[in-house]
Amino acid sequence: MNIIKKWSCIAAMVAVSGMSFAEIAWLDEMRGERIEQGWGRPHTRQSVEGNPLRVGGTEYKRGIGTHSAASIRIRLDGQADRFTAKVGVDDEVGDKGSIRLVVYGDKTVLFESNLLEGGDPAQDVNVDLGGVKQLLIIVNDGGNGMDYDHADLCDAMISYHGAKPEIVEMPVEQPYILTPPAPPTPRINGAAIFGVRPGSPFVYRIPATGDRPMKFAVEGLPKGLKLDPATGIIRGTIADRTPKAHKLVFHAENAKGKAEKAFTIQVGDTLALTPPMGWNSWNCFAHAVSAEKVKAAADAFIESGLVDHGWIYVNIDDFWEICPFSDDPTLQGPERDASGKILTNSRFPNMKGLTDYIHGLGLRAGLYSSPGRFTCGGCVASYQHEIQDAESYAQWGFDYLKYDWCSYGDIAPNDVMEELQKPYRLMNDCLRAQPRDIVFSLCQYGWGAVSTWGESVGGNLWRTTGDITDTWGSMAGIGFQQNGLEAFAGPGHWNDPDMLVVGHVGWGPNLHPTRLTPNEQYTHITLWCMLASPLLIGCDLTQLDDFTLSLLTNDEVIGVNQDLLGAQGFRVAKDDRLQTQVWKKPLADGSMAVALFNLHEIEQEVTVKWSDLGLGGPAQLRDAWRQKDLGVFEDHFTAPVARHGTMLLIVKLSEK
Ligand code: GAL
Repeated sequence: MNIIKKWSCIAAMVAVSGMSFAEIAWLDEMRGERIEQGWGRPHTRQSVEGNPLRVGGTEYKRGIGTHSAASIRIRLDGQADRFTAKVGVDDEVGDKGSIRLVVYGDKTVLFESNLLEGGDPAQDVNVDLGGVKQLLIIVNDGGNGMDYDHADLCDAMISYHGAKPEIVEMPVEQPYILTPPAPPTPRINGAAIFGVRPGSPFVYRIPATGDRPMKFAVEGLPKGLKLDPATGIIRGTIADRTPKAHKLVFHAENAKGKAEKAFTIQVGDTLALTPPMGWNSWNCFAHAVSAEKVKAAADAFIESGLVDHGWIYVNIDDFWEICPFSDDPTLQGPERDASGKILTNSRFPNMKGLTDYIHGLGLRAGLYSSPGRFTCGGCVASYQHEIQDAESYAQWGFDYLKYDWCSYGDIAPNDVMEELQKPYRLMNDCLRAQPRDIVFSLCQYGWGAVSTWGESVGGNLWRTTGDITDTWGSMAGIGFQQNGLEAFAGPGHWNDPDMLVVGHVGWGPNLHPTRLTPNEQYTHITLWCMLASPLLIGCDLTQLDDFTLSLLTNDEVIGVNQDLLGAQGFRVAKDDRLQTQVWKKPLADGSMAVALFNLHEIEQEVTVKWSDLGLGGPAQLRDAWRQKDLGVFEDHFTAPVARHGTMLLIVKLSEK
């Protein structure tokens, strides 16, 4: 190009761009797959549901459709000029949904939108990017959860001079272990109480860490129970059928020292006096479950040491039955025998043998069914065979039943309260007629405000949400929405926000490490413990890595979940702008667990004020994850909390 042509070309560019040589990078031409969002996938030049971008009645040709909570991190080189866009909630959700856009340049807030609700016109975004190297565009929910938050960034572009802006992935921290190793001296862990109905068989393995061999002894063991001093397994049937609290003292001794712990066996009507803790096959194996895999999970309870921290239930989810719609031959065969007794598929040839094995380890066994003709996986369910099925579960030796809803919708509507409750009442009556204790878990996704009546139909726990998956949007969306349900939880009756998604999960034969980052996994476990939620590990226990194990074996954190008071934690403070929350869970000894959460994309300080906790004076703080005292604080505590991370404190009024 000769010099004259070159100059005329540049002059043309100047003319086009107004006054500079800036080029334009459109957001819809960048690597959208790197955007993180709470629901669905980002769409280029379309809404998150694939419709033309339309906000407040105006259609836009360019831009992206996303969903709260979304984070878009764009690499700049300090030579970008402006970010401009029009932001709003897509018309496809009508007047539902609400969002707030925040734009950060190198951690400084450059722009904050109004609260934008469905139907509002798009708001102009026009941000100076002078000197900025990292642009962070965040779409937060409007403070009312992420439902319907279909956010559009229309005509979104960056004008720049130097390197072309590009979306980059969010940086993910390396796994870091906070749980200190258990000492070699004996320590007796787990809940301090267990409920049993009069005359029911009892099995309990004293959870204790410390060097082996260890010798166990129990003071006050009721007649009819026997302790194996080498394993700490207590089994038998309490002879005295009077409802009462049997006060025991557990002792454990090894070459390094001794420990003791008070323990109550509560003979009475109520099971699950603390939230059930165990494993369930669904989030890892789903339809690929087999007796071998369940047995391997039970073995892993012992080998990994999980059992030393109070993990008890080994639960089989769907796909132990015959599944007539599956083309897998191992799932086919006669559904029931001539008398109507349910038959297992070929992967579970000997249910009694399997539960004997699980009980032999001092653990308890769980099973799954549905009230309709078929389970959610299309396998044989209990409709019109409820009593026979309950008898089978009891004869096989099961201690826990998760009872779904799927396909019952073909029998009765799910929007009539009586119909919604009926199948659960029926199965509860059938379970109660069995000569063993079977914890009853309702799984109908929270419909009909189940928290308000789950206990009245016999539920020990009830799902409050749809299925969880291993993303931040799913886990945080479910977990933080549990606030407000605390009135309905307590010993024997728990809200269940679904199973844990740490470790290797996959819902089928192919597993992958959870997509939750390490910070997010700390948040997940902390929040579920604060919620007094049932803790059901959803990963392959034969593939436990040190980090995952450390998340599941912190006795002080578990102690918050298993606390005798059985109170569910709730939110006491919230900052929608900073996306931080403080939660409190009262504990039996008068202290409280307090969790600081940072839902933001950048590390931030989070403050808890004693006035929000209802505390009237200086308080002693302990960091539960690190198991370390932090000292006495006058009226508040502030700490930096990582992106999507947490801090869990035990707060006690100071003695003086
Ligand atoms: C779903 C339930 C899952 C799992 C699955 C089995 O309805 O929410 O947790 O049990 O059914 O098919």
